[in-house]
Amino acid sequence: MPQSATQIIKRIGVLTSGGDAPGMNAAIRAVVRACAFHNVEVDGIFQGYAGMISGDFKRLNERSVARILGRGGTILKSSRCKEFHEPEGRKMAFDQLKKHGIDGLITIGGDGTFAGAHILFQEHGIPVMGVPGSIDNDIYGSDHTIGFDTATNTVVDAVDKIRDTATSHNRLFFVEVMGRSSGFIALKAGIAAGAIAIILPEDEMSVDELVETLKVSEQSGKSSSIVIVAEGSKGGGAYELARQVNERFSEYETRVSVLGHLQRGGSPSCYDRVIASRMGVAAVEGLIQGRKDCMIGIVNDRETYTPLEDAISRDHLPNRDELRIARILAI
Ligand code: F6P
Repeated sequence: MPQSATQIIKRIGVLTSGGDAPGMNAAIRAVVRACAFHNVEVDGIFQGYAGMISGDFKRLNERSVARILGRGGTILKSSRCKEFHEPEGRKMAFDQLKKHGIDGLITIGGDGTFAGAHILFQEHGIPVMGVPGSIDNDIYGSDHTIGFDTATNTVVDAVDKIRDTATSHNRLFFVEVMGRSSGFIALKAGIAAGAIAIILPEDEMSVDELVETLKVSEQSGKSSSIVIVAEGSKGGGAYELARQVNERFSEYETRVSVLGHLQRGGSPSCYDRVIASRMGVAAVEGLIQGRKDCMIGIVNDRETYTPLEDAISRDHLPNRDELRIARILAI
């Protein structure tokens, strides 16, 4: 149920913070246009919390966000701001919000971004609304974060290309993907690209188990394979895993490919554009209805508001059954 409105929102500030993700621009566009629709003014705050502290604000209107829907990155730019971790930094930021007449704040980003928004609300009472934008998909309160779908499609495309070389040279490839301490990208892309094994931080396969899997498949005639390794896996990443496997099983020539930041860029997928548009509009409407200190997400295809406290502290974990399916198919 919407909370009762205790104040009328007249001007919203919007920022992007943390790692950029494809679809953030679609979310910014949705926020700005929903504000125009509801007769609320909107300021873009540039460079994330760093720009909030330094006063890098600019009034936006519906035309300021033309032709950004399909662009990767974020027109508002982003940063990871150390000063905002301190109460003095947050006080300076709040003073800038007051100076610019901002009475509601929309922060697009991941859990670090939301932790900052939550504490700003606790200390200064400014209504805040989070929009989950991160390729990692590790936020509780939304089935998907903005950027995750595009990033996994980028990974699948890259692995399909790597497979051409793997097949042509009878090689075993270890492909390392992003996700920080979360295995969502590895799991989805691993299934979609037909990996023989997927190494996740949430459910690590032992080196012995992996070697056994490789042996069995090699004996059944498999001449090349792809192992997807999540960057947050505890075994030390793709290079270390490749080294350990090579010591025990050297039937294949081995190569390692770390995909890195190409996973964060590019034009957002249709899915990311749509969820970003939905969440951007719902973020504005939530603030207008008097909601505060929460995050908009999409759960079971419905717009859902979750307290920021929960979004920050609770886990969003990959589906274990997908891991089981991946193992069944990797023979
Ligand atoms: O959170 C998004 C993400 O791309 C993670 O997957 C990765 O671990 C991290 O950001 C990389 O951060 P940076 O761009 O600061 O090196």
